[in-house]
Amino acid sequence: MKKALITGITGQDGSYLAELLLAKGYEVHGLIRRASTFNTKRIDHLYEDPHQSDKRLFLHYGDLTDGSRLVTLLASIRPVEVYHLAAQSHVRVSFDEPEYTGDTTGMGTTRLLEAIRMVGLDCRFYQASSSEMFGATPPPQNEDTPFYPRSPYGAAKVYGYWMARNYREAYDLFAVNGILFNHESPRRGETFVTRKITRAVAAIKLGKQDRLYLGNLSACRDWGYAPEYVEAMWRMLQHDTPSDYVVATGTSYSVRDFVALAFDHVGLDWEKYVDHDTRYERPTEVDSLIGDASKATTELGWKAQTHVPELVRIMVDADLAALTPED
Ligand code: NAP
Ligand code: GDD
Repeated sequence: MKKALITGITGQDGSYLAELLLAKGYEVHGLIRRASTFNTKRIDHLYEDPHQSDKRLFLHYGDLTDGSRLVTLLASIRPVEVYHLAAQSHVRVSFDEPEYTGDTTGMGTTRLLEAIRMVGLDCRFYQASSSEMFGATPPPQNEDTPFYPRSPYGAAKVYGYWMARNYREAYDLFAVNGILFNHESPRRGETFVTRKITRAVAAIKLGKQDRLYLGNLSACRDWGYAPEYVEAMWRMLQHDTPSDYVVATGTSYSVRDFVALAFDHVGLDWEKYVDHDTRYERPTEVDSLIGDASKATTELGWKAQTHVPELVRIMVDADLAALTPED
């Protein structure tokens, strides 16, 4: 049975990836942070009684800032695939906490790579790189597009990208960078713009909220559907040779478009409910991201299936269902 370690298993992508790997017969290990409240909501449905003998999901306390813990964990688990998804992943928050973001999102990757090297582990490594690294470089963006990060988060991800490449070149580690464009789902964190919008639309439709406050409506993003993107991660680690891949839909919508589609889905006019609030703007913005995922299609056979209009319906319907009491 193949063993995999997922850092960030409690996050949006980690939860879908855990489901995928369990369905493929893997033994799945996840790194979780100790918190004073439960932070495992997204994977509770996968939880198995620790006394069960055929259990295949194991959770371990640890933190990206604790290098020695990463060493002892890898030495005891000895996974053959390591999916490094954990990060301070919020771009706006990274302007408030640039040092912490550098320590976790950037240095966290180095700590994990170095732990692999120290343990002498023979494994394949996935680095969660991001389209945010392209920043100010105009679209379309592919694997050869120069990086121009526009946030502490983007800069930390560029560092992580190059560390993964360096361990590939210096130590022959099978390390890949998945350069994923924005991907969303009903499990998306509530403060990212898509989920903020779909939750508000559901609450407004049901009479539980009056207004929605947003920042820049003109930014354009290439939004895809998260469950499809974790499949691309897995395919990268099954490929014959390690490489870096853009994963995207190739289409782009503005935040305004997303808002209009979401309100339209419940029969409301968005302009009656949305207000502007400068607190949600960033000191420097990424104006436009559109990914060219041709390499992933050719080499991995991966292609996005779900596009924004369908994604909006999935997310709004899920938020409506979550707010509607069961009979
Ligand atoms: P997410 O929902 O924010 O999940 C982040 C995960 O990292 C959570 O499990 C979180 O734990 C964990 N984490 C944060 N700080 C940590 C620390 N110091 N030590 C250990 N764990 C820590 O992010 P996501 O959307 O699933 O994204 C997964 C990865 O892909 C991230 O690296 C993100 O930057 C990157 N990425 C995301 C997208 C996207 O559109 N979603 C696109 C490109 C790249 P808690 O649950 O305890 O907070
Ligand atoms: N979060 C948020 N909240 N964003 C807003 C708001 C608001 O109220 N109003 C407008 N926006 C705009 C942001 O300025 C940005 O241009 C866009 O909506 C998307 O913001 P987010 O959903 O926060 O995502 P992001 O693109 O900054 O970052 C996400 O995608 C990256 C990949 O490109 C995150 O998932 C990153 O972790 C990921 O790497």
